[in-house]
Amino acid sequence: MSTRKILVTSALPYANGPIHIGHLVEYIQTDIWVRFQKQRGNLCYYVCADDTHGTPIMLKADREGISPEELIAQVGKEHLADFGEFGVAFDNYHSTHSEENKVFSSLIYERLRDAGHINSRTITQGYDPVKKMFLADRFIKGDCPKCGALEQYGDGCEVCGSTYSPTELKNAVSAISGAKPVPKDSVHYFFNLENFKDMLRDWTNAGHLQPEVTNKLAEWLDGGLQQWDISRDAPYFGFEIPDAPGKYFYVWLDAPIGYMASFKNLCDKQGLDFDEFWRKDSNTELYHFIGKDIIYFHALFWPAMLTGAQFRTPSAIFAHGFLTVNGEKMSKSRGTFITARTYLDHLNPEYLRYYFAAKLSAGVDDIDLNFDDFSQRVNSDLVGKVVNIASRCSGFISKRFANRLSENCSEPALFADFINVNESIAELYETREFAKAMREIMALADKANQYIDEKKPWLLAKEEGKDQELHDVCSMGLNLFRVLTAYLKPVLPALVKEAEQFLAIESQNWVAGLQPLKGHAINEFKPLMTRVEADKIAAIIDASKENLEKTSDKSKPEPKAKQFEPIADTIQIDDFAKLDLRIAKIIKAESVPEADKLLKLTVDIGDECRTVFAGIKSAYKPEELEGRLTLVLANLAPRKMRFGNSEGMVLVAGPGGKDIFVLSPDEGAVAGMRVK
Ligand code: 2FM
Ligand code: ZN
Repeated sequence: MSTRKILVTSALPYANGPIHIGHLVEYIQTDIWVRFQKQRGNLCYYVCADDTHGTPIMLKADREGISPEELIAQVGKEHLADFGEFGVAFDNYHSTHSEENKVFSSLIYERLRDAGHINSRTITQGYDPVKKMFLADRFIKGDCPKCGALEQYGDGCEVCGSTYSPTELKNAVSAISGAKPVPKDSVHYFFNLENFKDMLRDWTNAGHLQPEVTNKLAEWLDGGLQQWDISRDAPYFGFEIPDAPGKYFYVWLDAPIGYMASFKNLCDKQGLDFDEFWRKDSNTELYHFIGKDIIYFHALFWPAMLTGAQFRTPSAIFAHGFLTVNGEKMSKSRGTFITARTYLDHLNPEYLRYYFAAKLSAGVDDIDLNFDDFSQRVNSDLVGKVVNIASRCSGFISKRFANRLSENCSEPALFADFINVNESIAELYETREFAKAMREIMALADKANQYIDEKKPWLLAKEEGKDQELHDVCSMGLNLFRVLTAYLKPVLPALVKEAEQFLAIESQNWVAGLQPLKGHAINEFKPLMTRVEADKIAAIIDASKENLEKTSDKSKPEPKAKQFEPIADTIQIDDFAKLDLRIAKIIKAESVPEADKLLKLTVDIGDECRTVFAGIKSAYKPEELEGRLTLVLANLAPRKMRFGNSEGMVLVAGPGGKDIFVLSPDEGAVAGMRVK
């Protein structure tokens, strides 16, 4: 087969925060696939970059008192260091704030414009009169127009799940300055996706996507394609649109173009032919690994933009699911929102590479990092099975045979069994069925251990006249170990490098046609991997909780609304008299699993028991509340919520998150007393 020429990308991480273990699923998945391609002898380039533009980055730099350029330089360095230590080996890591990206973004825009795919029209948006900037929906906060929940974002309510436009929010404020947004007109530029409807219908059904993704896209295509707003008004950190001063490309316009820009940067450094990979009739392969949340951008906008601008489209897009930790969404308060750096401070990165490989398939299902399972798998598979083969055999080869392997291969059939499955293991790597590949490889490791168990070298070592057999068995064990390390090389590059040094062999290619080592001198064995220690995992979780305390203000994408909460308008005494405020006893408190913020409380307000939903889950465990007295607004009109009716409101104070305090009356108060 001729050498394939492959260009691979992972999604570009935003330059406004650290890499965390959720991100790493994708980079590790991609890196394994790329390393596999290279090991097979294909020409494969893996490029990525920091995604540096947009409002959150501009605001974060502002809060930190530095320029966006300084922020992205600093974050870029941290990202690259994290990736490097996790063994994610990009051929090039660039930035979307680069000359190459500016050139390609302008070129693509101009080609789309000249072909009639760009329109402009005036739209009205919320504008922050203090910050003098337009506000995206998520930078407007207020009370939900449907259920009244406080501090909801402009695009939807997290409490009742309803969606609405920011103009419908009550008491809307800018999440940036706290000012009341005013409506303001502005001309925006739109990419007319509808022009590509037929092309997208064909392309999304032509085998470039996973089946479940194709189905999702069919739904979107059937629902009709909206024009895509690709411009943002100043102030905006990004590239100015060539023919529209004061207008900037929306970050999602130039982000995927960053793939091209990073590759161009590599081409310039290494003298590669950029056009060979990106021209319309290219014979090379182009793959984008992404999370399932950004399919719309990659499987609709991106192929349409490329087609409209006369470039090739991707060979395939490989979407993966999200990471949960111990069965739940990563959570800062539970200490499971773990940054790459915190993990690296405590544990070997190759544990995580192996664990993710052992869980990953070609589909878009979420994967769970369960720490008990993690320790058990790493300890049992890598330490207990794979490395154990080498440690069981190497001692005898060192002590009895001066670190030289036998001249014989005593079990050629067993060796051949190991080599003969190479194509099926390769197929599993190729199709991203890594979990299946790991199972196959571990089945081989079991086989090697069984062989050693049967031959019992520790007994042979004690018997007279069994030297040759001992030598043959241990050499055979190490030859099998060698094949296993070749299969595991895409997943465990650091461990396998050390194994190659121990075996005194060159960096291994794929094993097709491999012959056993005979009469070969090896080096002294050093332990290749130690067991996962439970206290290290506990330390990671503790440190992740500490990180939260140290960085909570800094790492938030937007400032907390508490700093900007406006004082409410005054009310008259008659208005106050309308409030039926009561002392209530919390009889029962239950979590609402479908809601991030809500607890369901049963409260005794004196003459009856009421059900009240309260957004206080982040601050209280249900059991802490049962039996407590609190204050309730009893004559609030009942509100129908997704989870049932809420018949009142519990009064709390505080900015949110962990800092919510249920108001408690002094001793002596009893349920049902009126508050005056
Ligand atoms: O979702 C994200 O994190 C984006 N920064 C991914 C961009 S991928 C590509 F299009 F640039
Ligand atoms: Zn609501």
